[in-house]
Amino acid sequence: MNDRFLRACRREPVDCTPVWMMRQAGRYMPEYRALREKHTMLEVCKTPELALEVTLQPLKYGMDAAILFADILLPLEPMGAPFDFAKGEGPVIFSPIANKADVDKLHDFDIEEGLGYVLQAIKLLKKELKVPLIGFAGAPFTLASYLIEGGKSSAFAKSKRFMYTEPETWKLLMTKLSDVVKKFLHQQIDAGVDAVQLFDSWVGQLSAVDYRTYVQPHVMDILKDVEKRGVPVIHFGVGSLHLLEAMREAGGTVLGLDWRTPIQVGWDKVGHDRAIQGNLDPIALLAPRDIAEKHAARVLEQVGGRPGHIFNLGHGIVPETPASNVEAVIDFVHRTSAKS
Ligand code: CP3
Repeated sequence: MNDRFLRACRREPVDCTPVWMMRQAGRYMPEYRALREKHTMLEVCKTPELALEVTLQPLKYGMDAAILFADILLPLEPMGAPFDFAKGEGPVIFSPIANKADVDKLHDFDIEEGLGYVLQAIKLLKKELKVPLIGFAGAPFTLASYLIEGGKSSAFAKSKRFMYTEPETWKLLMTKLSDVVKKFLHQQIDAGVDAVQLFDSWVGQLSAVDYRTYVQPHVMDILKDVEKRGVPVIHFGVGSLHLLEAMREAGGTVLGLDWRTPIQVGWDKVGHDRAIQGNLDPIALLAPRDIAEKHAARVLEQVGGRPGHIFNLGHGIVPETPASNVEAVIDFVHRTSAKS
């Protein structure tokens, strides 16, 4: 097995910098778009053979890890909050959460029963893969924001109002979500994933004080527990430079940095006893190939050869990305880091 990715997570020396890309399976790929003509997003997630196929699709570009094809929102349905992906609008939660009665209705469930299809996809993947498999879950703040906003948001006004106005109910909601996330990650590890990533995509919306008050204890509860399993745990947020010390305390073998965070500044905050992942601007992949490569070179220069770097984007690939640039940048990172 190609173990560059796992070695970098443990800050061990590598033959060259490992690369994977958030949302590496998706609409920028013609094969993915063709499959989505025939199946909805949820069908792909819930059919292990299709999830397997889509997870494998991008690996031909040379990624050093696979990420399970699924979505952070999947656990919401078996908790009692069904949703769908509306075309062009992103996720839509059918009955958003507005009060304590709504939170009380959310319930625990057996992971095998409610999300068995994810575990099944992991088992199929483990038979095929020659690179490590990354499992994942959404962090409680990011999941709560979808439940409360009902979909995508820019100011997170409903979520923050809820958090500030009803702190006890907020705590209950975060606890219910954390319990599910923790169990789900354990079961993914039992099924065979080699690493897990906790996506707290929207947590950068919070001040550091609010993060510590309303979010950090819950994330810490999840990460400290999952870290005991000994597989690398990647802790990721967008626009979270101001939270890195607090996120580090909450846990993670690897901390994800977005493209706005200068790597050395971010790594100093994270601490050199942790690995880092990032942080090419996903939009740099839309530029002509030589410019995209220059941006990738800048990431490698900032890392300066320090062990413990996983090359990734600062956030997910966008659908407009030319697949040829994905392949070119991966090859560029491998070649450049092998020389230095
Ligand atoms: O990274 C991968 O290749 C693995 C699969 C994966 C998906 N979503 C597939 C997906 C992962 C790891 C996610 C995580 C996810 N999902 C996050 C955290 C990461 C991030 O981007 O911040 C979030 C916030 C979601 C929720 C979600 N799912 C949104 C907001 C959307 C719509 C946005 C969009 O790009 O259209 C989705 C749908 C979704 N999840 C798609 C994919 C490939 C697009 C589905 C499609 O139309 O084909």
